[in-house]
Amino acid sequence: MDAKTIILIISGGIAAVKIPELIRRLRDQGRSVIPVMTKAAHEFVTPLSVSALAEHRVYTDLFDLTDEAEMGHIELSRSADIVLVAPGTANLVAKMAHGFADDLASTLLLATDTPVIIAPSMNVRMWEHPTTCRNLAQLRADGVRVIGPNKGVMACGEFGYGRMAEVTEILGAVDGFFKVGPLQGKHALVTSGPTHEPIDPVRYIANRSSGAQGTAIAAALRDLGARVSFVTGPADVASPSGVEIHRVQTAVEMLQAVRSILPVDVAVCAAAVADWRMASAHDQKMKKTTSGPLPNLEFAENPDILADLSKGVHRPRLVVGFAAETEYVIKNATAKRLRKGCDWIVANDVSSDTGVMGGQKNTVTLIDDNGAEAWDEMPKEGVAKRLALRIAQDLK
Ligand code: CTP
Repeated sequence: MDAKTIILIISGGIAAVKIPELIRRLRDQGRSVIPVMTKAAHEFVTPLSVSALAEHRVYTDLFDLTDEAEMGHIELSRSADIVLVAPGTANLVAKMAHGFADDLASTLLLATDTPVIIAPSMNVRMWEHPTTCRNLAQLRADGVRVIGPNKGVMACGEFGYGRMAEVTEILGAVDGFFKVGPLQGKHALVTSGPTHEPIDPVRYIANRSSGAQGTAIAAALRDLGARVSFVTGPADVASPSGVEIHRVQTAVEMLQAVRSILPVDVAVCAAAVADWRMASAHDQKMKKTTSGPLPNLEFAENPDILADLSKGVHRPRLVVGFAAETEYVIKNATAKRLRKGCDWIVANDVSSDTGVMGGQKNTVTLIDDNGAEAWDEMPKEGVAKRLALRIAQDLK
């Protein structure tokens, strides 16, 4: 691995206590780390331990850089291969989204022309606040890569999304960024997993997708050097490291997430999106009655994300769909490709005796303008690698 230099901006959140471990692991990989701490970060981790682990002095103030022997903040901002912000507090996210430059960290972020990765960390209510959602959307639109946050118990005792991504996930994102391969410089979007459509607060409509095929595709595209945005429903398998994860529950949320990521070079829709949702989900748990009628579930059609991508104004150069069929696989998949307007469709037989849904292996047929190409049965990772190579060839 080539040694690369990282400006590590540490802002003042409780997750800063994980940063010494992150620095240690980055240094073990041969990376150079230039630490920049906000004043608030000093409350959570000492500059002495950060500089000792980084083997580099810590910068906090713009005045730290006025010494003639030191470089200025503009030069510093461009002296690294990437800028990594961890943890990224709601305050720093807001400053980045609006271009504030009132301390060294925010000034560097405004002045840098190198790519930025951020691992946000904050209370769940702050994470879910519409202001933070807008700010994050702005950062993503500006090309900032967002890693996490994860769901879990927070230092404040609340539960939900807001915990900073684990050190291994942040390392994965950094590695993914530096990966060289035929898809370097390309942005790929992958949808994966099932969607859950609520019936009431405790029940939902779901399907048997485990998310294994979509996850393998995201990892294979990452391994070829692509920047990968991974939009996943509630899957059984763990999401891959080194990709930007967008977690959703429903088809409507998946569509919103996908639209917020565009434009991309290639989109692969591997998600098993529910075709229908409840016309209006119940706010309270539906109760059974001893004599009353059985519930009458009224459905509404969900948006078709693949068709929306294929026919939208920001159509990716290459759009790949999947066709989950239980009969007339090639005929149905061929018709589906034309109906949805995608370039390729990967047809697979998901009848229960094939064990594809939720299983480890897949037997697929790739259908494009030139016809149908049957691939031998192979592990889902094998399908993913072959598909990723094919995508790389197409995008050359
Ligand atoms: N898909 C989608 N949005 C939907 C439904 C499907 O993006 N609301 C995508 C899937 O991710 C897949 C492709 O469309 O790439 C085909 O999905 P599939 O379930 O096979 O087909 P359906 O659209 O459900 O059509 P049918 O009910 O006729 O099988």
